[in-house]
Amino acid sequence: MFNYRKQTLGFLLKPVILTLIILVFITTFLSAALIFPPDEYARRRARLMEHIGDGLAIFLGAKTPSGDYQFYQNNDLIYFCGVEIPNAILAVDGKKKESILFFTIAEKEAESQGLPLSLIREPQKVTGIEKVLPLEQFPGYLAGLNNQGRTVYTMFYSEELMRENSREKYNALQRTMVLDLFDQRLTKELQFVYQLRNKFPRLRVEDVSRVVWDLRKYKSAAEIEVLRQAGRIGVKAHRAVIQATRPGVTEKELAALFEYYCLKAGAQDLAFNTIIMSGKNHAFGHYHAYDRTLRDGDFVILDAGPDFKYYNVDLSTSFPVNGKFTPRQKELYQKALLVRQACLNSYRPGITLRQVSEEAKKFLQEKGLSPEDRDLRGPLRYGGYNHSVGLATHDVQATFSGLDEVLKPGYVFACDIQVIHPEEEIGIRLEDTIVITETGYINLGEGLPRTVEEIEELMKKDGVIQVLKRNKVY
Ligand code: GLY
Ligand code: MN
Repeated sequence: MFNYRKQTLGFLLKPVILTLIILVFITTFLSAALIFPPDEYARRRARLMEHIGDGLAIFLGAKTPSGDYQFYQNNDLIYFCGVEIPNAILAVDGKKKESILFFTIAEKEAESQGLPLSLIREPQKVTGIEKVLPLEQFPGYLAGLNNQGRTVYTMFYSEELMRENSREKYNALQRTMVLDLFDQRLTKELQFVYQLRNKFPRLRVEDVSRVVWDLRKYKSAAEIEVLRQAGRIGVKAHRAVIQATRPGVTEKELAALFEYYCLKAGAQDLAFNTIIMSGKNHAFGHYHAYDRTLRDGDFVILDAGPDFKYYNVDLSTSFPVNGKFTPRQKELYQKALLVRQACLNSYRPGITLRQVSEEAKKFLQEKGLSPEDRDLRGPLRYGGYNHSVGLATHDVQATFSGLDEVLKPGYVFACDIQVIHPEEEIGIRLEDTIVITETGYINLGEGLPRTVEEIEELMKKDGVIQVLKRNKVY
């Protein structure tokens, strides 16, 4: 006889159990362990192998923090394997065409840091790295390489932790540490080079910084997707700050509000210390002391972005504190806006920055502006280009040809138009993060209020600070 109940249950049970098994598998083994799927990292390591021949590249991970900070991996290790384990070391062997990850971490420590246990228990499966060994075996491994007289490539420039840029950090450490007569310590990376050469004299030790920087220069489709998410967060946070700006609000409140919105939307940190310039501080490029209470008539630059899954965006907006442009603020702002438009018009794959600059000048002449205008000369020099953007806000790149730089798909950079008149206490900065694509470009700042009308409209509505005050939250 037909058993309806049994049949129905039988039908349901299989897919439900299967779904549960898949879900358990995903949450146990794959979820949140890495930012990208393992094959994305495998492709990056394969490209590195193409550059190091029979050599071997070694990357030291970031150390356990010495204070009560959340651990974040350095950008090189995160780029090549996505592993967020402190003190991990990655070796990429160009001869054997395989990689080895060295790490040792107690499960309790890993859990306390928010790492999924699957990464610790099944690292090969989760990362796709061919071999995983305890950190304690690293010296023995080096001894083996020494016996073979191998060439070891490693970063001679400084590791990038959050909000850092390799070259800038290296230069700062030269001044404050290496060349300081009463210090004279080497950087972590140079100390490693010294130790390798000292303890393993048959190794040939070479710098791989420039190779890595050039690999990082062009972003993959997966990286661009993460950057787009970062852009959406940054745009939202900028809008919230603009809307909440009024006379009487402090710069500190605005900086805190920007960070609040970024973290709320899923960012792990800020791309850099939020820059807020107003009043006399328009004279300084990167002001973040947040020591002014905004006044009627002030004009503000907000230069800020989130760090989302290690990727940064760099966006700047400029707006009047009272929500209404004065004629002079409007005049300068619209000039900056036109320069920005001129540059955006020309971004496309295959064009050089020189050509962008020339096309932009022509566009501005047609609009009645002289390229010799003091406000235009600076931003037009490199066609609005200021720096590349990626895992670092000032992203590293070994090869930058200046005006001859050809924009290619996957290149991400800041278009940063600055018109600054400190003597009038007016500064305008219109900064977008641009991704060159096969057919044109994507602007990660899409959605920011850019025209005078858009800004004034947005500022008519109360922002979160006004709502909190009205409700006597503070
Ligand atoms: N927006 C930060 C900087 O590049 O100056
Ligand atoms: Mn910038």
